Amino acid sequence: MGGRILVFILLVCNYLLIAVADTATEDLTALKSLMDTWQKTPPNWVGSDPCNGWDGIKCTNSHVISISLSSTGLAGQLSGYIGSLSELETLDLSYNRDLAGPLPQTIGNLKKLSTLILVGCSFNGPIPEEIGNLQELLFLSLNSNKFVGHIPPSIGNLSNLYWLDLADNQLEGPIPVSSSSKPGLDMLHHAKHFHCGNNNLSGPIPPKLFSSEMNLIHVLFENNQLSGSIPTTLGLVQSLEVVRLDSNSLSGLVPQNISSLVKVQEMYLSNNKLSGSLPNLIGMSVLSYMDVSNNSFTSWDFPSWLSTMQSLTTLKMENTQLQGQISSSFFGLPSLQAVALKGNELNGTLDIGTTYSSQLRFIDLRGNQIDQFRQSDGVPEVKIMLKGNPICEENGMASQNYCSDTQANDNLYKTPFKNCDPGTCSLEQIPSPNCQCSYPYTGALVFRAPSFSDLENNTHYTTLEESLMHSFQSHELPVASISLSHPIKDSDQYLELSLQVFPSNQDRFNRTGTSSIGFLLSNQTFKPPKEFGPFYFNADRYEHFGAAGPSKSSNTGVIIGAAVGGSILLVLLILAGVYACFQKKRAERAIDHNNPFRRWDSESTSGFPQLKGARQFSFDEIKKYTSNFSQANNIGTGDYGKVYKGTLPNGQLVAIKRAQKESVQGAFEFKAEIELLSRVHHKNLVGLLGFCFEKREQMLVYEHVSNGSLKDTLSGKSGFKLDWIRRLKIALGTARGLAYLHEHANPPIIHRDIKSNNILLDERLNAKVADFGLSKSMVDTEKDHITTQVKGTLGYLDPEYYMSQQLTEKSDVYSFGVLLMELITARKPIERGKYIVKEIKSANDKTKNLCGLYEFLDPTMDLGSTLIGFEVYVNLALKCVEESGDDRPRMSDVVKQIENLLLLAGANPNAESASTSASYEDISKGSSRHPYSNESLDTGVVLPNPKIEPM
Ligand SMILES: *[C@@H]1O[C@H](CO)[C@@H](O)[C@H](O)[C@H]1NC(C)=O
Ligand SMILES: *[C@@H]1O[C@H](CO)[C@@H](O)[C@H](O)[C@H]1NC(C)=O
Repeated sequence: MGGRILVFILLVCNYLLIAVADTATEDLTALKSLMDTWQKTPPNWVGSDPCNGWDGIKCTNSHVISISLSSTGLAGQLSGYIGSLSELETLDLSYNRDLAGPLPQTIGNLKKLSTLILVGCSFNGPIPEEIGNLQELLFLSLNSNKFVGHIPPSIGNLSNLYWLDLADNQLEGPIPVSSSSKPGLDMLHHAKHFHCGNNNLSGPIPPKLFSSEMNLIHVLFENNQLSGSIPTTLGLVQSLEVVRLDSNSLSGLVPQNISSLVKVQEMYLSNNKLSGSLPNLIGMSVLSYMDVSNNSFTSWDFPSWLSTMQSLTTLKMENTQLQGQISSSFFGLPSLQAVALKGNELNGTLDIGTTYSSQLRFIDLRGNQIDQFRQSDGVPEVKIMLKGNPICEENGMASQNYCSDTQANDNLYKTPFKNCDPGTCSLEQIPSPNCQCSYPYTGALVFRAPSFSDLENNTHYTTLEESLMHSFQSHELPVASISLSHPIKDSDQYLELSLQVFPSNQDRFNRTGTSSIGFLLSNQTFKPPKEFGPFYFNADRYEHFGAAGPSKSSNTGVIIGAAVGGSILLVLLILAGVYACFQKKRAERAIDHNNPFRRWDSESTSGFPQLKGARQFSFDEIKKYTSNFSQANNIGTGDYGKVYKGTLPNGQLVAIKRAQKESVQGAFEFKAEIELLSRVHHKNLVGLLGFCFEKREQMLVYEHVSNGSLKDTLSGKSGFKLDWIRRLKIALGTARGLAYLHEHANPPIIHRDIKSNNILLDERLNAKVADFGLSKSMVDTEKDHITTQVKGTLGYLDPEYYMSQQLTEKSDVYSFGVLLMELITARKPIERGKYIVKEIKSANDKTKNLCGLYEFLDPTMDLGSTLIGFEVYVNLALKCVEESGDDRPRMSDVVKQIENLLLLAGANPNAESASTSASYEDISKGSSRHPYSNESLDTGVVLPNPKIEPM
């Protein structure tokens, strides 16, 4: 009944609107037809007058001239009706990931279109030939989609085109150039940008593509399958500033005349099959970044002309057959930051001289023939790497810093908070640099050829921040502040930064907000500082359009205007109808709002499918169980927060981990963690009983393990003595718990922080592995590793993981090996600067009693008796800490070996201990010396992020 009245009202309402509509009927029809194949159009796309207030639509003379829906969450397909918008000049649908399907041929009907931007959607199929009919087109950005097939030669007809970006698609075939019968890209004399990287383009680069008539500044063809030689015509394009031809199959000589490109600042020719040697490039006086690594050059001397390249910041010539000695004057180039010459035949003395560049940070000469290094009073700020040179093979040199393999520093830069305390934001809101909580618009800024390589120098990022902010402000966008973080060079040598844009006035953006910010970045209105070079932006989905809803003022205004002179009752009815609609939409949206726990509350069975046995506790319940989080119940403190002992009404003891403010994670992450933990059930793993998630609190409720940590026991704090068999059993329990995580959990879980603090002992001193706080499940089972930020505890950390950031189960095996050593020595892994692994490795001597380790062993272990299987145990521990993960055993093999050891020693590996801890000799009052006994509270050092090459 109510529904029918509403339909009636809306019909009347439509009729009235048409009567006064501002929009041409054919454009209205076209938009309505577009809406048939689109989902999630802006909520105010209702009624019949798009020119009057529809988000993202601009009109002139009743015709739609601009559709700008960047980052609005639009989904579905672009229908052929787009071609009916005869006056359309701008179409920007960027960053709508759920916009898929082909680009319709009728796009070619848009004779007035000057800007077509589809970056960051999921369009597929071929680029239609008809695109060549868009005579007015200036800006074409189809990058980061899934387009396939050839580059249509007809693009050559776009004689006004300024910007051509086809990068990051699956385009194949040749680069089209004109012939008597066909147009080609060589005709685009006004184009400044050819961005075609990351496709599957093949065939030679046609010499015809370049000529002195071209005005290109950026030619980016990296990461394709182009073959043949670099055409000499490239040297004719005098306007060029950035050339990327790297990671193709280019062969032949580098053309001599490339040196006439006097404006080129960044040149990448790496990862090809170029032969001969590099010509003298002395004419390229502003060249700052050059990478010609990994080519098939023939032996050549380190060129002396390099020492005259005054603008050079970065020289990368790895594996290029360079020989001879590097002149020390080279390091005096005033802007030099990084020199990467790994894998050459450079010999003689490395002499950086005394007047080396003040910006120099990194010299990588690994794998050369250098036999001397002249160090002038040390060059502390320069990271020098000489591993694999004769100089590092000499006796005693291996310990020199410059002979080690460590990488240069990573940059953890994040826009700082501006003299304020970020405090805690509620669910999913993020504090801005001004400490305001809101839902930022986010994405990755990707720079395709920056001119600098010193990622440590934060000046670059602050300059970038200022220019971004300036750009937003001068376009009057509702932006309060921005934050940049985590600059990294990715595998394509692009510099990536995370961008967060915070809204002003409200805690979230509306669609107009995100689409205008998206447009500013997608259409390159924003110009980054020069040293950043060409860029693109890739926005994340924005999920927070919320309460603001339809723009009421404009709609009701129109309605009232339309109804003037009509019945007042009708107006009231219409208003009531619109209000009802609005309320319903709002309610739906509110329900839909991203609360991952929503379904758990409302649906009793289906909402819990992922949670096996874990229950939700209320904050008040937990408060009661812990006597209001009393000090007496606080049984531990870690990075994550505090741990409290609690008693459930049934008398069961529990351990409650309460996240401190800084550790509170997003609701999705928290939910994922709970789901992961609740799936894991094994007698050697500390079980999760439940969680609490409310009032900005995140707590995990675990079973209580009565005898504390292995660490406390080894240190003598807990007061039990562990004999040899008991230690083997603890090792076995731990190994079984880990083997379960690695080989039986689905998806497999890597613990990442195995250490004695995280092995708990129950009343029978059975080991239980605790603290999956850092755990990472291996969701992508295609790969056998995951790349992560390095986390873990110093001393237990797998050096291979630390170097490569690639986490595998074998990293846990390494930590477990360290634990095995700790278990027999009761020493911390790193004590007074000595590393237990190194000590045991070097002291280990099979010919001696107890492998020559007597002085290291825990004296409480009754060393007088025979420790059956001790040698096997030591071997196993050493096997676990092998340098290469591949050489370490799997946890299930470790389990078998320890089981055998126990059998050998006459114990049953499967028997629960008969005695309880109470019967173990109480030594807490004794005077036994314990290496840990004078330590202060140990808070496991968590390492910063791993190091990443500044290249
Ligand atoms: C370095 O190598 C070059 C070419 O292989 C050779 O001529 C020269 O004698 C070597 N210099 C030193 C100091 O070994
Ligand atoms: C950081 O970069 C700026 C801008 O390029 C430069 O002027 C400054 O000297 C650099 N600082 C250091 C310490 O290298």
